[in-house]
Amino acid sequence: MSDIRNVALVLGASRGLGLAMTKDLLARGWAVVATVRAPPPRALQDLPADVAERLDVEHLDITSAQDLRALRHRLEGRCFNLIVANAGVCTDIDANMDAIPDDRFTAMMVTNALGPVRALEILQDLAPPDSVLAAMSSILGSQTENVDGIWAAYAASKAALNMLLHDFASRQATRRAVVAMAPGWVRTEMGGASANLSIEESIPRVVDVLTGQAGKRGLHYLNYDGRTVSW
Ligand SMILES: NC(=O)c1ccc[n+]([C@@H]2O[C@H](COP(=O)([O-])OP(=O)(O)OC[C@H]3O[C@@H](n4cnc5c(N)ncnc54)[C@H](OP(=O)(O)O)[C@@H]3O)[C@@H](O)[C@H]2O)c1
Repeated sequence: MSDIRNVALVLGASRGLGLAMTKDLLARGWAVVATVRAPPPRALQDLPADVAERLDVEHLDITSAQDLRALRHRLEGRCFNLIVANAGVCTDIDANMDAIPDDRFTAMMVTNALGPVRALEILQDLAPPDSVLAAMSSILGSQTENVDGIWAAYAASKAALNMLLHDFASRQATRRAVVAMAPGWVRTEMGGASANLSIEESIPRVVDVLTGQAGKRGLHYLNYDGRTVSW
């Protein structure tokens, strides 16, 4: 493997947007470390040899600090131009706060907000200056753009993610961009069949936006089309 090849770390790559991002980066010639919770999907096993040699699959449950520290240990010596904390869950989209079970509210907060930022905290020293550290946010986490306040508990978890990224970015001493990425409403298991975008309409543009942040500083809340999202 060439020393100058770009390398990405995608956390939560078993299906949906994380899997598509992994395949897109591999197609662009990147090397990728992709994490999953269960045995890797066929799409990551049945790759041509010249692509498979650029992919490493690791285990990670993003809610587990122990898993994150073990992953950091296994990745010692690696260097990543792009780290994307993509894993997320969404339940109880119509529930008011007097109805949502505590454990499902907590699961969204831990998976969507605490887990991704804890991952970036633990893994950041593997990312040199000019790299990009990102987490999958959502337009729904924007207080100004989620005008109807829909999917309240999930939206709250993405707003919490945004705030934790704000704190994380403010403590970056080196020149690294931090991105709260909004991929659009996409037809995945989470997005559902009614979503207005296919994975193919979202992910190549998400990857363009993320890789385009290399060399920048500070926190950027960006839509898949490159537009800055209002907080
Ligand atoms: N689709 C949309 O319209 C949309 C819009 C805005 C933002 N997003 C965000 O984009 C990200 C990906 O969404 P998606 O649509 O691809 O969802 P998805 O199809 O439901 O996939 C979710 C991914 O997250 C992983 N995951 C969930 N909990 C995890 C955990 N505890 N540890 C590690 N991995 C975990 C899943 O792994 P398993 O297979 O192991 O469950 C899967 O790979 C999420 O953060 C989501 O909130 C999606």
